[in-house]
Amino acid sequence: MRDRSNTSPLALITGASSGIGAEIAREFAARGYDLILAARRIERLERLAAELRHTHSTSASVVAADLSAAGAARELWAMLGQGAREVDVLVNNAGVGLAGNLADIDAESVARMMRLNMELLTSLTRLALPGMLQRRRGGILNVASLAGFQPAGPGMAVYYATKAYVLSLTRALAFELRGTGVTAPALRPGPTRTEFDAVGGAAGTRLFRWLPLMEPRAVAAAGVRGLLTGRTVVVPGWFNKLLAIGGELAPRSLATALNGALLRK
Ligand SMILES: NC(=O)c1ccc[n+]([C@@H]2O[C@H](COP(=O)([O-])OP(=O)(O)OC[C@H]3O[C@@H](n4cnc5c(N)ncnc54)[C@H](OP(=O)(O)O)[C@@H]3O)[C@@H](O)[C@H]2O)c1
Repeated sequence: MRDRSNTSPLALITGASSGIGAEIAREFAARGYDLILAARRIERLERLAAELRHTHSTSASVVAADLSAAGAARELWAMLGQGAREVDVLVNNAGVGLAGNLADIDAESVARMMRLNMELLTSLTRLALPGMLQRRRGGILNVASLAGFQPAGPGMAVYYATKAYVLSLTRALAFELRGTGVTAPALRPGPTRTEFDAVGGAAGTRLFRWLPLMEPRAVAAAGVRGLLTGRTVVVPGWFNKLLAIGGELAPRSLATALNGALLRK
């Protein structure tokens, strides 16, 4: 196996053990990136790392951590520092949803989702930026959602709000980074065939039954292409583009009611 560990760019991907994150890892490996794959399920991460080493002769290492824990970003970053490699690309992909009315869902699960979807993403971005700005190159791909375009998502209220946060943050960040050589697009997938709906209790909602689901591979390919070509917004798939426009143009009360209906089982 060829050792490219000192010459290849390095991508750190959170939530790489399944779905969109695993496919993003495959996309970067195919482009010659070395990888650090982070999530909780170590055996999944190790299997993927072995596959990428075998298929692309890439150097892939894994970090098993609960990234929804307080201070997880700092701990992960400190761990990377010990490897003394610069992170060229950060993919903030780890995220969960939680279906149900706010009054009915477990309070600690809500707090964990908010830390994972917002705090981790923000803190890792903040930690990655100084090095990237100093080197005048780098990319941060924030996985938001079409949900972030919507005024509100009754039945998944906090999840929709976390993605609106990611979208707002990333829009502003892309503006702040103009001319620095560092890019930060937001990837905004619509419903995608991953473990997301089952994990968050959204399987069986009309959203996942009625709307066409995209394959994670196509979503990942669009995201990585968008990042590497300097885009600031990536909405994969024509149907999702229509939904995005609809979400922005429709009266807020109508879009809120429609989302409420779609998020019912
Ligand atoms: N699927 C969709 O319909 C859809 C639509 C729009 C946006 N998105 C967004 O896409 C991103 C990826 O989701 P996906 O669809 O690929 O779902 P997925 O298959 O469930 O993948 C989620 C990833 O996040 C990781 N993760 C979850 N909780 C974690 C924790 N506490 N600590 C560390 N890692 C954790 C999971 O790994 P472990 O369980 O091994 O920790 C997994 O690798 C998310 O940000 C999601 O909001 C998904």
